[in-house]
Amino acid sequence: LREKTPVRYDEDRQSWDVFRYEDVHRILKDPATFSSRRGLEVRGETLLTMDQPKHTHMRNLVNKAFTPKAINDLAPRITSITNELLDQVASRGKMDIVYDLATPLPVIVIAELLGVPAKDRMLFKDWSDTMVKGVEDNTDTALAHMMAERDKAEAELVQYFLKILEERRKKPEDDLVSALLDAEIDGDKLQEQDILRFCILLLVAGNETTTNLITNATRLMTEQPAIQDQVRQQPELVKSMVEETLRYYPPIVAIGRVATQDVEIGGQLIREGQQVVSWVGAANRDPDKFDDPETFHTDRKPNAHMGFGFGIHFCLGAPLARLEAQIALEILLTRFTDIEFEKTSLTPIPSPFVFGVKSYPVT
Ligand code: HEM
Repeated sequence: LREKTPVRYDEDRQSWDVFRYEDVHRILKDPATFSSRRGLEVRGETLLTMDQPKHTHMRNLVNKAFTPKAINDLAPRITSITNELLDQVASRGKMDIVYDLATPLPVIVIAELLGVPAKDRMLFKDWSDTMVKGVEDNTDTALAHMMAERDKAEAELVQYFLKILEERRKKPEDDLVSALLDAEIDGDKLQEQDILRFCILLLVAGNETTTNLITNATRLMTEQPAIQDQVRQQPELVKSMVEETLRYYPPIVAIGRVATQDVEIGGQLIREGQQVVSWVGAANRDPDKFDDPETFHTDRKPNAHMGFGFGIHFCLGAPLARLEAQIALEILLTRFTDIEFEKTSLTPIPSPFVFGVKSYPVT
């Protein structure tokens, strides 16, 4: 597709598809022409669906609470959570990477970051799972059922966060909610609704993606055991191995935008108001950008993949996702010698924008 129809219109989905690195890069770099207000904002506007200047203002405010230092300080906790999770499976001799490690780790970390007490963790996990749940069959009944479930989970989560907000307003703690309540630019504070929506966005944007990053990296190490051998011999390569996973098996393969004016891309005229899907998964393997793109190079340098997007909406949680994946993989490799896939059929996550599997048993 990238070679033959690098920019094409899909009649069924009524949307443009863009596959080349250069074109995807150009789209993500130009938020004035390619807006993030692509229809999702009807469920409540978030950072992800805002355009400038509102986006800049909101992003600056949340950046204050989501600093690299705040994230790096989490390393010891991420290490102990990973060890606790692996302790539970150590005697079994086998585990499901998705179920036993890659799903609970990001949920627990984000819950702690937000200041959710340990006793409410399972409740919190159920809500956040429901909020990102897809549907297997695309019938109207299945879709309606899923939307109803999501709305219910979101409403319960909002009630729950309202309680936490009230508590933190009275007595601030060392957590993200307290920092968000405190964040201020030019005397301007975040509104309660903004904080609520932002907390929910973190769950929706951060949990399943990180799960898939950890799983996809493990999957690569079992599909291509040479990668596993190399990282075992040179543990310092874990960082670049995570980056190469984000290029080769990116958890998010496509990013949506809508054109704000008529614009030409790759010789095609995109009309104002039309949807545009940037296929990051294809761009990440574009031979015009990457040498030997179909080969996984554990220590690929440079590696300007767009697994976390690009431009003003570049993933806010990238430092956290990277840290969690690095720590999880380091510990996994140290504690388990020779990780092998326990061959079963793989079930993909039912979303065209996501690359991941529902379960990945290893021995
Ligand atoms: C934005 C991917 C983890 C929070 C994005 C975007 C991508 C992405 C591609 C850009 C979307 C766009 O341009 O429309 C990923 C991947 C992750 C990950 C692959 C894991 C491997 C996280 C985590 C968090 C997070 C852990 C937070 C806890 C966000 C937020 C945005 C975002 C808030 C919106 C930023 C903005 O619009 O300014 N992510 N993400 N993500 N991500 Fe992530």
